[in-house]
Amino acid sequence: MSSQHVLNDLYPSVSQIPQQYRLQGPMEQRRYLLDGEILQWQGEVAPINSPLCLGTDSGPEQVILGHTPLMDSKAALKALDAATNAYSLGAGEWPSMSVAERISHVETFLGHMRKQRSEVVKLLMWEIGKNLKDSEKEFDRTCDYIVDTINALKELDRQSSHFHIEQGTLAQIRRLSIGVVLCMGPYNYPLNETFTTLIPALIMGNTVVFKPAKFGVLLITPLLEAFQKSFPKGVINIIYGRGRDTVSSLMSSGKIDVFAFIGTNKAASDLKKLHPKPHRLRCVLGLDAKNPGIILPDVDLDNAVNECVAGALSFNGQRCTALKIIFVPQSLQRTFIDKLEVAIAKLKVGVPWADGVQLTPLPEPGKTDYLSNLVNDAIEHGASIANDNGAMIKHNYFHPAVIFPVSKEMRLYREEQFGPVIPVVPYQEVSEVIEYVRDSNFGQQLSLFGNNPSEIGQLIDCLSNQVGRININSQCQRGPDSFPFNGRKDSAEGTLSVHDALRVFSIRTVVATKHSTDGKSLINNIIKIRTSSFLTTDFIF
Ligand code: G3H
Repeated sequence: MSSQHVLNDLYPSVSQIPQQYRLQGPMEQRRYLLDGEILQWQGEVAPINSPLCLGTDSGPEQVILGHTPLMDSKAALKALDAATNAYSLGAGEWPSMSVAERISHVETFLGHMRKQRSEVVKLLMWEIGKNLKDSEKEFDRTCDYIVDTINALKELDRQSSHFHIEQGTLAQIRRLSIGVVLCMGPYNYPLNETFTTLIPALIMGNTVVFKPAKFGVLLITPLLEAFQKSFPKGVINIIYGRGRDTVSSLMSSGKIDVFAFIGTNKAASDLKKLHPKPHRLRCVLGLDAKNPGIILPDVDLDNAVNECVAGALSFNGQRCTALKIIFVPQSLQRTFIDKLEVAIAKLKVGVPWADGVQLTPLPEPGKTDYLSNLVNDAIEHGASIANDNGAMIKHNYFHPAVIFPVSKEMRLYREEQFGPVIPVVPYQEVSEVIEYVRDSNFGQQLSLFGNNPSEIGQLIDCLSNQVGRININSQCQRGPDSFPFNGRKDSAEGTLSVHDALRVFSIRTVVATKHSTDGKSLINNIIKIRTSSFLTTDFIF
């Protein structure tokens, strides 16, 4: 296939864009949410470029989407003050509120958020190049996550409304908030992954400073008012700007109690080190991964190829759960590569809203150069590009490249490419693959492709202490959101799921007395005359 054919649909003219996906001109976004008010930032702003180009008479032109505030440390610290005051050492209105009332605020937010679906979906496409189907899925999955979180909290509260009697002690145990949470999400899921920490943090009674991801920033704008209208002042504060100008001073202040961050382990470590009292900082981190796909000799190769293509190339490989290296037995290497090449050639390249498009331009400036360097390094060490048009670049677009045979000396063997490059490593003995997994700095997930029960069974036992999830005959993925999502080594800290996130953002707290006549009578009276919102047997239906 010619490169021209591959790129045919990448640069539409404005008139070729369906009306509902057209931009209404650049968004000069200066608004931010501080202490319950939407304020106008008067300082510097940063330009936001789209990964997409438009076709013009003078050739493709990159679209400038608008600007976003470049806030400084002083402004960030004001947001922290607002969150700290709203928390008031746990005595603030929000942490003191009943669970049922907090749920109703989150329901109000969800109602406002749903009305912004089309705007957020449109911005997801323009800001990060995510295709329409996946952008809609990201929005809907986030709404579902909020509904599931509310239901999980109701269940948790019901479980906490009873009393325990153990060894002469009468007690009630509830999960309470921790304090001020700093939430930072990633650009590949700027809505969903951010909200999987933000919403549980809020609903458990914490107050939050939220800084949107480096791309996927403007799409938070339509939600600013939703946040403002739904929560008491100071409970959620939204700031923008470079991490080093904003987040560093927040961490150095020592006033952040929980650090919820999805990004690189280097950035997470650098920020954690700034906290003066590390023992007071709880961290919830989703970090780097290099998930291997392991093809075994006894495999349904067509299924494995389909799953590897989806696993390695959904959203152009920009998923932390993407398959980032594939091991194939030498006996199957040729057939596997041929089938992979055919499957990749069928993927449609284009703009995110076009029907069936799977491959789109990349949002990170310099990313195509970075990927080219990885490919060139592999070529220098003896690998080749195994598919037509592989590694071809046009503006921000990088065509998927299958690189074969990849070996230990190449950067692609260990480095997380986070993009559309598929390194394929041939192996003779499965022990070589086991050694790779054990030696890896990362431990998020892996996929096994095969049908031999004894071989798969043994590999599960051998590899299950290395990663957080083993997928059999399917790609790696986070969902369903009720399943635990975590990682070992440098891949994560803490476990997220609808259920686990409520626990991560809270601490179990016990009120106990002697199981004596006096003790029982006092507790009974507190419940009867309703003097405590902790000690109560109220039940949320
Ligand atoms: O980028 C990491 C995401 O959590 C991956 O989620 O597997 O649903 O794409 P996903």
